[in-house]
Amino acid sequence: MLKLLNLLKDGRFHSGEALGAALGVSRSAVWKQLQHLESELNLTIHKVRGRGYQLAAPLALLEAQAIAGFAVGEQWPVFIHETIDSTNAEGLRLASEGQAAPFLVLAERQSAGRGRRGRQWVSPFAENLYYSLVLRVDGGMRQLEGLSLVVGLAVMRTLQAFGVKDVGLKWPNDVLVRGQKITGILLELVGDPADVCHVVLGIGINVNMQVNEQVDQQWTSMRREVGAAIDRNHLVALLSQQLQHELARHRRYGFAAFQEEWEQAHLWQGRNVSLVAGSTRIDGVVLGVDGQGGLRLEVDGMEKSFSGGELSLRLRDDS
Ligand code: BTN
Repeated sequence: MLKLLNLLKDGRFHSGEALGAALGVSRSAVWKQLQHLESELNLTIHKVRGRGYQLAAPLALLEAQAIAGFAVGEQWPVFIHETIDSTNAEGLRLASEGQAAPFLVLAERQSAGRGRRGRQWVSPFAENLYYSLVLRVDGGMRQLEGLSLVVGLAVMRTLQAFGVKDVGLKWPNDVLVRGQKITGILLELVGDPADVCHVVLGIGINVNMQVNEQVDQQWTSMRREVGAAIDRNHLVALLSQQLQHELARHRRYGFAAFQEEWEQAHLWQGRNVSLVAGSTRIDGVVLGVDGQGGLRLEVDGMEKSFSGGELSLRLRDDS
């Protein structure tokens, strides 16, 4: 199917005969694949007698070569899928099978994209970025401290480089524009975090998505913010470059080196919040983050730190 898409992506007309010849299949097999593209990937294909088939709009797909063309610095091996359950899941699988890290898994679409706290990450075809960077960590827990917050900073800087304004962070790792989510980050681990493990930095950026009824929270996209389509290959290259830079700093100096910078980007500094973990709720005022990336709250006049992937932060009505 990716081959057929690559033939059609220019948005021009292609005859059934020409498509069949290029793919080495019959015209009826082409027809079946076209139907599959429409139903599975939600693409609109115009069919005009005597002219052939045309995508309703040209498609810019992810391509390793195009990414390399924009890249500066170290280039990680990249695995690009047309459809995958989850780029994070694939990253974890490849790491367990012995694929040498660092490497990158990208997909045009995820059929079971994973969000935080067991939620689904809506992942329509060829509109957004589903990006998982797999790293090997053998320096113990310190290398993991505050890592997801550092990823948030790297994403924020990348979005700013593309002209997105008013980007900020919400602990631990939401990236928001005027209260609307533009990126979600999910870190997953395989192995022994106290010894050798692999960590997957999963990043979902709303890039060119303009409408979507399935997303159940306030959202925006880069395209909505800057008013123009974004080249996703360029985005992959810049994001990777930014991550390389911040991850090297994090490895060398730990999260403490990011603490102040992170607090400056934090949208909820000084706000009245509730920290929720299952049925437990703690009310407090946000003071900032500690040297390990934990959230510092003032609770009943005392400073306390909180950390953990299952925690979620909400604004209190009186904030
Ligand atoms: C969140 O809930 O805010 C985190 C969402 C993380 C989504 C990304 S998309 C790429 C990677 N693969 C996944 O299955 N999830 C992450």
